[in-house]
Amino acid sequence: MGAQSTSTATPLHLFRMTDGLIVHQALSAAAKLGIADLLKDGVRSTTDLAATLEVNDDALYRTLRFLAGQGVFHETAPRMFVNSALSQWLRSDVPGSVRSVLIYRGSPFYFSPFGDLLYSIQTGAPALEKTHGVTGFEYMRRNRDEGDMFDNAMTDVSMLWAPGIVAAYDFGRWGWLMDVAGGNGLLLATILRAHPALRGVLAEQPAVLERARQREFWSPDLTGRVRFEPMDFFEAVPPGCRAYLMKNIIHDWDDERARRILLNCRRAVPDDGVLLLVEYCLGGENTPTVGKTVDVVMLTMTGGKERTVREHRELLTSAGFSLNETVPLFAGCHDSGSETGVRPLLTAAPNRAATVTER
Ligand SMILES: C[S@@+](CC[C@H](N)C(=O)[O-])C[C@H]1O[C@@H](n2cnc3c(N)ncnc32)[C@H](O)[C@@H]1O
Repeated sequence: MGAQSTSTATPLHLFRMTDGLIVHQALSAAAKLGIADLLKDGVRSTTDLAATLEVNDDALYRTLRFLAGQGVFHETAPRMFVNSALSQWLRSDVPGSVRSVLIYRGSPFYFSPFGDLLYSIQTGAPALEKTHGVTGFEYMRRNRDEGDMFDNAMTDVSMLWAPGIVAAYDFGRWGWLMDVAGGNGLLLATILRAHPALRGVLAEQPAVLERARQREFWSPDLTGRVRFEPMDFFEAVPPGCRAYLMKNIIHDWDDERARRILLNCRRAVPDDGVLLLVEYCLGGENTPTVGKTVDVVMLTMTGGKERTVREHRELLTSAGFSLNETVPLFAGCHDSGSETGVRPLLTAAPNRAATVTER
């Protein structure tokens, strides 16, 4: 029976679990419409909201009533709504906002492949490639709007984790830090702000760097301490730093491609340097963890996977690193702590004795 208690092991409970689909899409629609922003000054009627948004009044009402039943928004009088403690995080103007993540998750780019999860189970291949015809990263290279949307979502998620990562590890000791495939660079900017003597390099795909340059968090006090380097990590990772950080990169790829990226990191990291990974580490039999959920996301979307600490160690060893520490990350100020302990920062030293060959 595992973690399932007898009281919830009913047919109805199983049936109700599929309601997650409705919650997911209703949340995403509310995020896209910007309802929480429209409610930031207080209560409004759905008639008023619908007129502003040019949507159907009754349909909006029924969706907000459903969400209020989930604790998102609050109906104060018939057809009158205010933000709840939860829906505040759907506002675009609050630190810790997850509006962009929810917009991304409800988009056809993210959402449609899950209709084909069975294909992934049958073949082991990412359903996204069946749905969209190319890999996700290629799709985003070809479709600027989806690329923008993804970068915004990753920035929201990094905003939640950056304080915990900065608190867990002394990045300042390395002098130069490269965030390899660091998205628009929110995490690197946060680390640089915490360590005034540290210099940084944001290495990314050219289109992502173009968007990064326009981000407000690259304030003038940081611009003198950061360089932007275009990169394809399957070709090479730029040299020149002592510490190399990769957050949520290795999990995007199968072992063969993850190893290619790590081998390119090994060529760049000096012998007295370090490679730092922030990745989920699977564990906890029969308990729900975010890592197991994201693992199925990777199965569906990228063909990558989440790994156990042992699997991370083996992969790192095969690319000439030795895993020497797993530093627990404590939740950032905007997170309840449910992920604590499952997404550590892994520190790996170059293994000078290892002979590493391309496979
Ligand atoms: C899951 S996101 C993680 C971004 C960032 N590290 C974070 O945690 O917010 C994966 C990143 O890998 C980058 N990426 C994908 N393929 C790449 C390639 N061939 N070369 C360089 N970067 C790549 C994407 O642009 C994207 O920003």
